Amino acid sequence: MNITVFGSGYVGLVTAACFADAGNDVLCVDIDPAKVQRLRNGECPIYEPGLEEMLQRNVREGRMRFTTEASEGVAHGQYQFIAVGTPPNEDGSADMQYVLAVAASIGQFMDDYRVIISKSTVPVGTADRVRDAVLSQLTARGADVDFDVVSNPEFLKEGAAVADFNKPDRIIVGTSSPRATEAMQALYAPFNRNHDRLIVMDVRSSELTKYAANAMLATKISFMNEIANLAEALGADVEKVRVGIGADPRIGFHFIYPGCGYGGSCFPKDVKALVHTASGASFDAQLLKSVEAVNSRQKTLMFRKLVKALGDVSGKTIALWGLAFKPRTDDMREAPSRDLMEAVWAAGGRIRAYDPVAQHECRRLYGDRADLELVSSPEAACTGADALVIATEWRIFHSPNFARLKQLLSQPVIVDGRNLYDPDMLKQQGIRYYAIGRGE
Ligand code: UGA
Repeated sequence: MNITVFGSGYVGLVTAACFADAGNDVLCVDIDPAKVQRLRNGECPIYEPGLEEMLQRNVREGRMRFTTEASEGVAHGQYQFIAVGTPPNEDGSADMQYVLAVAASIGQFMDDYRVIISKSTVPVGTADRVRDAVLSQLTARGADVDFDVVSNPEFLKEGAAVADFNKPDRIIVGTSSPRATEAMQALYAPFNRNHDRLIVMDVRSSELTKYAANAMLATKISFMNEIANLAEALGADVEKVRVGIGADPRIGFHFIYPGCGYGGSCFPKDVKALVHTASGASFDAQLLKSVEAVNSRQKTLMFRKLVKALGDVSGKTIALWGLAFKPRTDDMREAPSRDLMEAVWAAGGRIRAYDPVAQHECRRLYGDRADLELVSSPEAACTGADALVIATEWRIFHSPNFARLKQLLSQPVIVDGRNLYDPDMLKQQGIRYYAIGRGE
């Protein structure tokens, strides 16, 4: 099948590469000529396990091509995916200008039936706006061409995106058109074997499903962080509570890990956007506002614990393990590590950080500065530092040599934003251990 994907960002590239790998002919359209050139050479602009190999294979074998020309893209695919960014506006709403610009281009160049698929995370009602944008272009040039607009949100997790696409737990298709439904079933057939995971619903419900899924997961995390803070106030251990409640299958063990707050490009943005959408519909989304507020406060917790441990942070060197918002990605958008670093700098301290893949991203974000040193190993970060803070649970941090760490640190203090270690064991080692929701 011929497929066009507008937007070669995270979602667009994974979508394009996975469809190409299933044998389809995919043309990717992006407005950034430098990016298009790099992609043509098989260079992957993002870090995602398995994606670069897939991209190179499909470029080499001619199933994945790149262009800056929207007209070429519209002519190519019966399926037109819109996977461009929806960055947050100042007020938390999603900026729709890129999505609507693509819709206008499709309307401008389309001369035969097209299924226009909204893959970006977009507010409820966007499919209608896309339809209007396409129609107004068709009307302007007096063209009478049939098309359908489908909502098909993605549920990929960074770090596991290729696997998630190839083995989805559900494929949500929002449309009321039988023709588009049939087209989407045919398109996803290779990813939908053994038992049917394709769920068809109306467009608005599909658009809301995406936000509801992320908001539910964010709610679980903020809930657990609230219980962690409460456990600390009451002298209980949240890790025991987590195991105790997770055993109830109605609650489950997933996404109830307390920590230093959720980050990334999705949860913070989507929760804020949903609050905004709700208020636009004259609905006060009280629970979601609290989810966001609890998370903002949680992101300051590692710094507060550091101050508790060290007193004054001014002039001190803080070792930091982990910069990415979660393991297996170099993404630092809304990462709790950033709140920690910025607070340490504001207080006159220095950061010496190690992350297996996100160091180049950290340099890109913060540039060269005297109070930021990026080092090549976890131990190098600790040498002579006044305390160690852990912000990301990379596997390499899971079982360090504590005796050695104690020697390296000038003060035996660990602030752990991910609850990686056994507090009793660290106490025996003579380390002052500040975790989340378990004692200090
Ligand atoms: C999230 C969703 O999990 C995906 O299903 C969705 O498709 C995606 O957003 C999206 O909208 O595109 P992602 O942002 O890649 O995926 O990251 P997650 O693995 O969900 O982690 C989000 C944050 O929650 C991380 O900062 C993580 O550390 C934190 N988290 C997660 C916790 O603090 N505790 C937990 O128990 C789980």
